Amino acid sequence: MLLCLLQMKNAYEYIKYLLISQGRHAFHSPFVYDFKDKCLKMKMDFAFLEKQEKQLYSLKKDDSVFEMKDFGAGSRKMERRRQVNEVFKNAATKGVFLEVLSQISLFYKPEKILELGTSLGVGTFALTSGGGLVVTVDACDKTQAFARKYFPLVSSEVRFVNDTFDHFISRDSSVYDLIFIDGHHDGTSLKRYLKQLQKNSHEETIFILDDIRWNRDMLRAWTEIIEDRDYHLSMDLFKFGIVMKRPHQQKQHFVVRLNGILRSLL
Ligand SMILES: C[S@@+](CC[C@H](N)C(=O)[O-])C[C@H]1O[C@@H](n2cnc3c(N)ncnc32)[C@H](O)[C@@H]1O
Repeated sequence: MLLCLLQMKNAYEYIKYLLISQGRHAFHSPFVYDFKDKCLKMKMDFAFLEKQEKQLYSLKKDDSVFEMKDFGAGSRKMERRRQVNEVFKNAATKGVFLEVLSQISLFYKPEKILELGTSLGVGTFALTSGGGLVVTVDACDKTQAFARKYFPLVSSEVRFVNDTFDHFISRDSSVYDLIFIDGHHDGTSLKRYLKQLQKNSHEETIFILDDIRWNRDMLRAWTEIIEDRDYHLSMDLFKFGIVMKRPHQQKQHFVVRLNGILRSLL
């Protein structure tokens, strides 16, 4: 545990999170109580886990090199010519956070899901657990090609869109029940995408914002988003920030304790 903490780039933030995060009994909001007590306890079935395992294994083993187009700050660790397994290691959602994506999709059963940032399709597959349509957008066609190559057979519809986030949002008029923003990790862009996506969301749309502690700028943006009067519910899961408009409820913010965070981040 101590070794993991020392290896972590934002150990101070993690300790702070540990000190203020709470278990389900601390939540007086029925929505958040259910989120912690029911949603985060959902179990995927064997067939789903088997497909997921196969997808992750194939990506981990693939050492082919390709030219990756860099968009956004999220891939700052790597060069332009990249190996699939390196991209997997650095960019894919992992561990407890991957589980949370599939639990949210399975529990709330969103009919329409938008993912900004396909990368290798790891999060995309997790989001199919509830059976809804998943639209996933990425500007790098080569990375997305590997996502398609290893994507498990699913009964739900998955649409891979090769486009920049800005361009996609500007011409998309669909309304989504769940929106996962996982790419272009700078605070100004995050706030811009959220604003642009207002037309694509309703009062109960779940926005999952990835890497809210990626850097100071992202953390500042997250703090401002929590304060935003448009979002009456916000939940801090350390790496994920979740916001919902829910105008019928009192404005509330929760820091929800998750187990297994350290293992998922290293
Ligand atoms: C962190 S990865 C996504 C990981 C994936 N969602 C998962 O769960 O495994 C971010 C992806 O966003 C894409 N991206 C970043 N900025 C973008 C932009 N402005 N427009 C389109 N794609 C972008 C990158 O090409 C990269 O593949």
